[in-house]
Amino acid sequence: MKQLLWLAFAALSFLSCKEKRNVELGLITKEAMVVSAREEASKIGANVLKKGGNAFDAMVATELALAVAYPYAGNISGGGFMVYRQQDGSIGAIDYREKAPLAAHKDMYLDSLGNVMPERSWYGALGVGVPGTVAGITEVHKRFGTLPFEELVQPAIDLARKGVIVTEKQEKRIKEYKDKIIEISGDSTRWTADHKAGDTIKYMNMANTLERIKEKGRDGFYKGETAETLVSFLKERGGIITLEDLEKYRAKWRDPVTFTYDNLEVISMSPPSSGGVCLAQVMKMIEPHDLHEYGHNSLQAMQVIVEAERRAYADRSFFLGDPDFVEIPRDALISKEYLDARMQDFSFEKATSSEAVSYGKIEVLESTETTHYSIVDQFGNAVSVTTTLNGAYGGKLYCDELGFFLNNEMDDFSAKPGIPNMFGLLGAEANAIAPEKRMLSSMTPTIVEKDGKLLMVVGTPGGSTIITSVLQTILNVHEFDMGMQEAVNAPRFHHQWLPDIVMLEPGAFSDQLKQQLADKGYQTTEERTPVIGKVDAILALPDGRLEGGADKRGDDTAVGF
Ligand code: GLY
Repeated sequence: MKQLLWLAFAALSFLSCKEKRNVELGLITKEAMVVSAREEASKIGANVLKKGGNAFDAMVATELALAVAYPYAGNISGGGFMVYRQQDGSIGAIDYREKAPLAAHKDMYLDSLGNVMPERSWYGALGVGVPGTVAGITEVHKRFGTLPFEELVQPAIDLARKGVIVTEKQEKRIKEYKDKIIEISGDSTRWTADHKAGDTIKYMNMANTLERIKEKGRDGFYKGETAETLVSFLKERGGIITLEDLEKYRAKWRDPVTFTYDNLEVISMSPPSSGGVCLAQVMKMIEPHDLHEYGHNSLQAMQVIVEAERRAYADRSFFLGDPDFVEIPRDALISKEYLDARMQDFSFEKATSSEAVSYGKIEVLESTETTHYSIVDQFGNAVSVTTTLNGAYGGKLYCDELGFFLNNEMDDFSAKPGIPNMFGLLGAEANAIAPEKRMLSSMTPTIVEKDGKLLMVVGTPGGSTIITSVLQTILNVHEFDMGMQEAVNAPRFHHQWLPDIVMLEPGAFSDQLKQQLADKGYQTTEERTPVIGKVDAILALPDGRLEGGADKRGDDTAVGF
């Protein structure tokens, strides 16, 4: 009883403290919640939970709903990762990342002089990796689902037929990419139409494709009509994916990366995503510092985080790739000894030069594609899922007959060691292209425990900025005592080793702080990226309720009960 009273008191003071500070609280619910990039998808996921489904059932329904409501990044023709923690504390992860087709080869994006032809992996049929999403959701359902699969697909079919209302942000996005989509997909694509906020877009062909998945499960995508249509569509446009590639695709269960930070246990995605290893490296490098004492987004806190990021992103580029193809010294990379040694040359006096950490001068092309959703169910299970087409609307290639955009995930391989991909990330041999290999990712679906209990489910899109956005959201809660929505709203910054620049969220950092950073030798910019992450997260409050953090930078919405 005493403990219950204390918990209630702790929760009340937590909330009233936030209220006093006049910060935005997220949705608070008693039992369950879904937070995703679109209200329609969050509602569909939450309805599944309300019907008695678990977080894994809701994952299937939310993923498919995003494929309809959020074609910018939601998909059935891309891939992703899910990290889970069940109510009994058991954890795991599934990798449904795309892979290189059988006919892929190391030099496929090089010209006869050995120069990279970036457009060939950015746009169109040759940049498409073998999609993993349908294999991922069917595998999750097979292992953990409780409701019939058809019931989980039906809401997305209904949504596709009823149509999705265009939001203002979506109107802007469609306008921004329309010309490129028409250039790549041809002028008979449905995307030639102008779409204004408030319009309804129906996706009849997507509904038919989903019907086949509903009836046949994974075979409804990887075999038969969908597979044949897809393969001939790609072949006509210079693609190399075959029916054999589709048939052979399998999602893989993986052991997540786990590590401690103070009294937190962090569970995050393992290779072929760099997310978990990189997050572990950064957090272990900053752990010896008292960030709380330094203050949120203070000069000292930013210096420590930037320097840890610089070193972790340099390692990412050299060591990480598909674990089924390359040896990754995973334990050594996140060991305390190694990371203490890595930070030994850090000083508050002056920025370390990235040249001193390694080589290279590169340009960055940032984008905010990919999408993340977080789910906690009424039984206490949690899933953290990040899924992607890679670029915004993938490679801008839309298959009208099937009703979806294709991914351009092949660009996440390093086309040539030492040459950056579309995120400016530099790759090495470990991430070179090979048939059936998975390309390295930055996706960082993460779950955090505190004192053995679920604390947070968190993740974000944002290409190379994903890892730092997840990091800052966790730190905002743990070090700087923020609630979930406040932690998501807080301004973010990013450093990725190369280019040697601290990217700042535009208009969010004071001139004084920028000057202080410059005085220490840090070059900053607010122009490289308009948005650093778009975090969707759930926090378990001390009294057992849940607070959602739905990123105001997008149309993201929390729904629950
Ligand atoms: N395509 C973005 C990522 O996987 O990190």
